[in-house]
Amino acid sequence: MKVLIVGSGGREHAIATSVQKSPKVDQIYCAPGNAGIGQIAECVPIGAMEFDKLVAFAKDKQIDLTIIGMDDPLVGGLTDMFEDAGLRVFGPRKNAAILEGSKAFSKDLMKKYQIPTAAYETFDDADKALAYLETADFPIVLKADGLALGKGVLICQSLEEAKDGVRSIMLDKQFGAAGNCMVIEEFMTGREVSVLSYVDGKTIKTMTSAQDHKRAQDGDQGLNTGGMGTFSPSPFYTEEIDTFCQKYIYQATVDAMAAEGRTFKGIIFFGLMLTPKGPKVLEYNARFGDPEAQVVLPRMKTDIIEVMEACIDGTLDTVDLQFEDNAAVCVVLASDGYPVHYDKGLEIRGLEQFEDKDGYYCFHAGTKLDENGKFITNGGRVLGVTAKGADLKEARANAYAATEWIDFDNKYMRHDIGKAIDEVNGE
Ligand code: AMP
Ligand code: GLY
Repeated sequence: MKVLIVGSGGREHAIATSVQKSPKVDQIYCAPGNAGIGQIAECVPIGAMEFDKLVAFAKDKQIDLTIIGMDDPLVGGLTDMFEDAGLRVFGPRKNAAILEGSKAFSKDLMKKYQIPTAAYETFDDADKALAYLETADFPIVLKADGLALGKGVLICQSLEEAKDGVRSIMLDKQFGAAGNCMVIEEFMTGREVSVLSYVDGKTIKTMTSAQDHKRAQDGDQGLNTGGMGTFSPSPFYTEEIDTFCQKYIYQATVDAMAAEGRTFKGIIFFGLMLTPKGPKVLEYNARFGDPEAQVVLPRMKTDIIEVMEACIDGTLDTVDLQFEDNAAVCVVLASDGYPVHYDKGLEIRGLEQFEDKDGYYCFHAGTKLDENGKFITNGGRVLGVTAKGADLKEARANAYAATEWIDFDNKYMRHDIGKAIDEVNGE
């Protein structure tokens, strides 16, 4: 089989690594990919939003399966274009990817189908949003409706701060057109957990849980980022919580989408908050998480191609989805200054140390090869150093040890990825 992966980050490197393990696969292409993905796939210089070129490439190379890793092309309808061209593709159609593409849509869906989430109101008029804030409780959460690179959420402590937030989202368009409409919602407290799942339109099979660390600095300080590290599984995600979520959140969401005529096939990523009143949905994504994929996929025992094909064919109920009974931790190595200003083009040393080391992975996010064939940094998040272990403690020790193998100028990382697990161990 020939497989094409669309995307260029650590998530796509993790997907490619899983795809490569499948005995069904002969050749992997990635558009546009990165230097690390280029070691296991042929990278083609086509951007994820160049739909016509992607379809033409897939036809020309007779690609058997295309996997869309990123949100933008999914929300923009790349799956529809592939399907209309008679090509096999993994990822929701545009009318289903709206689950991630519009927060107003997803909130209204949850309300209509009584899926637990924070109380909210939606606004497409700044004056009405400002008037609503006068009677609200604080802190309060403001969300731009559309895709905003995970940055369109503001948590406001006071009325003044919230009013400034509404103005910057709706009037100054800080997040562009994503702010034409916005959601104002109740502030929830609790531990966050990410649960990713495979969906075939009617059946849903969840993967092992994970937790991200979104802030740039230790102790959850600093700016929001695309994610500085993850661990899997989350010890806070108990069997009791899982039973509740399977019934009232996961299957309910798949059924709700089908009832709306928006059959969802692909990945649903449930961003959950474990509140004192039970689990509630923070957000949905229509794709693997980044860097959640980097800790979940290495632990997956089932052939990823088999699962994805079952999602497309509507036969997911026949798949026995299995994960290893261990743990994984991913520590993101960034270029100091991320997510604001950072240098690119810095030489990366030590990558060869990961070769042939079982249970260790160095997923590339922002890297490329220079004219001499050396690996250099090409983004804020550079690498996702991942290690497995018998338990979270061991996985964390292994992952941090492996971060020492890599060296580049301005290398920056958080030192407390997975530290929360010490609470469970009573340390
Ligand atoms: P989202 O992109 O919707 O996941 O929001 C980004 C982050 O903002 C989440 O991971 C939470 O940490 C925080 N957040 C979002 N919504 C809420 C809420 N209703 N209450 C508290 N924190 C929230
Ligand atoms: N790690 C969060 C996300 O992928 O949206």
